[in-house]
Amino acid sequence: MLPTREEAERILAEAEKCNPGPWGNHSRIVAVCAERIAACVEGMDTEKAYIVGLMHDIGRKFGVKHLGHVYDGYHYMMDLGYEEAARVCLTHSFSTGDMKEYIGNFDITEEQQKEIEEALARTVYDDYDRLVQLCDSLSGTYGAVDMEIRMGDVKRRYGRYPQNKWDQNMALKRYFDEKTGRDIYEILPPDTPGN
Ligand SMILES: [Fe+2]
Repeated sequence: MLPTREEAERILAEAEKCNPGPWGNHSRIVAVCAERIAACVEGMDTEKAYIVGLMHDIGRKFGVKHLGHVYDGYHYMMDLGYEEAARVCLTHSFSTGDMKEYIGNFDITEEQQKEIEEALARTVYDDYDRLVQLCDSLSGTYGAVDMEIRMGDVKRRYGRYPQNKWDQNMALKRYFDEKTGRDIYEILPPDTPGN
């Protein structure tokens, strides 16, 4: 189950009040990018793409956390009965499917990490998981940024970026370029204020 578009927007606005920050607008850009790409892929539901994109970082409602935001978002959406959104809260940070490759602090207990690993192991990624992973890696504050520049930024900030995660993100772009029959950047909003 999923929240409606309006309900998802309300949930995000409320969450931003609890933990204000650029993550709210980043979530809106991910949603718009996911919706636009989905509109060019036969069989994809644009509304679902928008909603799961909008909710992917909702765990940030509960404070400034790294791996913790994945755990919190997954549980928050499950508690509300929105398991399709919960799934994307879980999968969006793990494009290679391996929790160990998470870039950031492992700020949850060992038991909670085990729970995430087990939930990931039960999940076979679909095109909505892949789409949000892609959009997360190319969404800035106002629109789409060059994915390689963004990954380079992360590499500088955290001092590392696993090569297979880098390669996997590039593969995701090629996957959706092929599915949409174009270079996806052509259909995404530019990263300029007020686009
Ligand atoms: Fe996230």
